[in-house]
Amino acid sequence: MDKLIIDGGRRLCGSVEIQSAKNAVLPLFAAAVLTDQPVTIRDAPAITDALCMAQILRELGAEVRFHGADVTVDSSDAHSHEISSALTGELRSSVFMLGSLLTRFRRARIAYPGGCDIGLRPIDLHLSALKRMGVEIAERDGYILCTCDRLRGAEILLDFPSVGATENILLAAVKAEGTTVLSGAAKEPEIVDLQNFLNAMGAKVRGAGTDVVTVEGVKELSGVDYRPMKDRIEAGTYLIACAICGGEIEVRGVRGENIGSLLHKLRENGCKIHSKNDKIYLESRSRLRCNRRIETMPFPGFPTDLQAQTTALNCTCEGCAVIVENLFETRFKHVPELQKMGADIEVKGRTAIVRGVPRLHGARIVAGDLRGGAALVLAALGAEGTSEVLDLSHIDRGYSDLQYKLKNLGAEVRRVRV
Ligand code: EPZ
Repeated sequence: MDKLIIDGGRRLCGSVEIQSAKNAVLPLFAAAVLTDQPVTIRDAPAITDALCMAQILRELGAEVRFHGADVTVDSSDAHSHEISSALTGELRSSVFMLGSLLTRFRRARIAYPGGCDIGLRPIDLHLSALKRMGVEIAERDGYILCTCDRLRGAEILLDFPSVGATENILLAAVKAEGTTVLSGAAKEPEIVDLQNFLNAMGAKVRGAGTDVVTVEGVKELSGVDYRPMKDRIEAGTYLIACAICGGEIEVRGVRGENIGSLLHKLRENGCKIHSKNDKIYLESRSRLRCNRRIETMPFPGFPTDLQAQTTALNCTCEGCAVIVENLFETRFKHVPELQKMGADIEVKGRTAIVRGVPRLHGARIVAGDLRGGAALVLAALGAEGTSEVLDLSHIDRGYSDLQYKLKNLGAEVRRVRV
């Protein structure tokens, strides 16, 4: 197990090349088994969630090869429709495999998905949508068993714009008989990326990015060579790091409108920001002001995946911030760790009240989930003195080369074996 040792208080200056988006690449791995022809995903991020998805495909009998950052998937010999709990326990994204396996094999048997411990994370919306498409579903001994004679296009309405459910439905609909009209769809940019990938394979998907997505089932899908979009959450994380530490940063590869709600809040803090094409520039010169109120919402609202990082930012801003986490039940596990550093935060249910203090001080802190762990790193970068951030396995799930990118920006950070 590794830890980061961070000497806080240094300003950050420079630019960061953003990785391909974790939450775009993971459904693309699932989509790769929709065809028995080779699929190439360019520039996959060096993160453990991607390695885990690769292992899941190998368990199905697919061949997955990494050539540097490029990944090729050849699932012509895939023969299994089962995914063990060992792998699904690691990764929430394993649930996307339901749609793909049903399209490929007309059956799927997967253990209940795991992932970050940030809430109940049910999959009722996924399952009710698949039932409407003609899938029989049984749940036994922690496994979900799905079978169907054929997948039928259907009219589906999601009660909540679930990202994963939207993606699963697309994966089940692309070769279904007839047309699927999905209303109440999630509008995240990663859904648009999945639509582009599927259409490059010969699918007929339209409307991604809006709340009505239409899929016309086709007979065959071909292989594809595809470069995914860049990671807007990683980009937001580095922008917030610079806001906390002071300095100036340019993140490259992400369009401002993909994290427009974050940029709006960072301007409210007092950061100077401008974005052009796929570059975003941020300058943070003086002590910032707290955000009056932040509520996490589905896209284009404020992203829940940047809530922890923004909570860390508000800890040392002037004033008081109210931060409401609407998406997940227990996404404040970073708060007790921030309190060890001197943060003044009170959590009541889904609301955190953050009263700004002049500085945090270094401490030994433990990451409890992916984005909460990133928030602790950011807090340590801005704190007075030295911090140790433990249990990096959570952070490694979604951030490639974190310590190198931070060192290149001027941070004093070392990764050491515990
Ligand atoms: C995706 O998770 C992302 N993960 C999450 O990112 C992200 O936080 C989330 O979307 C929201 O944007 C990936 O894309 C791999 P949801 P997902 O289904 O699909 C409830 C990160 O840090 N819900 O949109 O699991 C659910 O409980 C991760 O990168 C149901 O009630 O999110 C939650 O409250 C964390 N029933 C809300 O919807 C369902 O069937 C949002 O979940 C499905 C979801």
